[in-house]
Amino acid sequence: MSGADAIAGKRIVLGVSGSIASYKAADIASKLMQAGALVDVVLTRSAQEFITSLTFRSLTHRLVITDLFDANSEDPLEHVEIARQADAIVIAPATANVMAKLTHGLADDALSTIVLASEAPVLIAPAMEHHMWANTATQVNVATLKERGFNFAGPNEGRLASGAVGSGRLVETAEILEALGEILAANQDLAGRHIVVSAGGTQEPIDPVRVVTNRSSGKQGYAFAEAARDRGARVTLVTAASLANPAGIKVVKVESARQMLAAVSDALNDAADALVMAAAVADWEPISAAGQKMKKVEGQDRLTIEMQKTPDILAQVSGLPGIKVGFAAETEDLLNNARAKLEGKKLDMIVANDVSATDAGFAVDTNRVVILDKSGGQEDLPLMSKREVADTVLDRVCGLFSG
Ligand code: CTP
Repeated sequence: MSGADAIAGKRIVLGVSGSIASYKAADIASKLMQAGALVDVVLTRSAQEFITSLTFRSLTHRLVITDLFDANSEDPLEHVEIARQADAIVIAPATANVMAKLTHGLADDALSTIVLASEAPVLIAPAMEHHMWANTATQVNVATLKERGFNFAGPNEGRLASGAVGSGRLVETAEILEALGEILAANQDLAGRHIVVSAGGTQEPIDPVRVVTNRSSGKQGYAFAEAARDRGARVTLVTAASLANPAGIKVVKVESARQMLAAVSDALNDAADALVMAAAVADWEPISAAGQKMKKVEGQDRLTIEMQKTPDILAQVSGLPGIKVGFAAETEDLLNNARAKLEGKKLDMIVANDVSATDAGFAVDTNRVVILDKSGGQEDLPLMSKREVADTVLDRVCGLFSG
């Protein structure tokens, strides 16, 4: 996919900070629109001294964010939603002040908050007076941001607004679009692939109102589905969780392990390239669910529900198309248990996590996992967001595709 094609259909946040070059951001917004992007413009307070929100509103046909606490906004958490949905964030022009804030993780206005709350790649196009650019404080901040994966376009050398000649000019719009296109295209390594993801804890019915289930939130599975989508894959998410449906993903809602087996099998037979089985599947189901709500019986103090094993979904789909990635949720002897599951279920890879840790596993937004593969490899990952875990595992899946 070419860089220019990669911009079409993408949600781009254009952050504009206060510089004499702020007016050039109108051209950037316009060219992004022409390239087929959906553009959300965020103006800092000083940017509004140089250019009005009306300019951007007219160009993008969308509301422009000028304040973290906009009393007129329909959604008080608008900035979080915009951060979550962004495919990329472009900050152009970016002042020394904005870069300093990003370096230190400040979130005192809409733009810095959106960058902090987003996992999208960020492209920074600095513009400032050349002494400010050359200042050690700025250069140290730029080096830190580059180290953390922020992308830079420019600044260029040339005549600056002050009349001086030096480094600090905003790069041309075409260069910004080219750099953005490359960033977006580089992230499309799953284009043309069909990735099936399962998520959530299955529910096994006892009667019409009661179920046996577990503490899985579904967050890790949804993070996988969104990461695969953002990397260009067609994604089918088979879910027993009740989280909001992510955009651009085929969502198949299921409840029980048996329903999940059927839905996962159907999805794999639809030319799947990989299955990421992040769901916490119940191991046992009541042998027969009561047809009516079970009533208390006078004098009965105990209840025994007879259970039988649910189908092992991974074991059953091992002959169907696609690389198989399983999870091992353990509370003890993590590596041995995980390796036994990797082999027993004939997986290509297993993601093992200790669910007894308070900062990893169920319900929290972070995870600490070990990736084991069938050729004996072991990779211990540090504490990461569930999205970072997903992207790291998908990197390994891409490695299996090409290897
Ligand atoms: N899994 C499955 N079908 C089941 C149970 C689990 O496909 N009936 C999958 C899970 O989605 C996960 C992997 O198998 O990817 C391991 O699940 P886990 O609950 O850790 O292990 P179990 O196989 O259930 O073994 P145990 O409960 O004994 O640890």
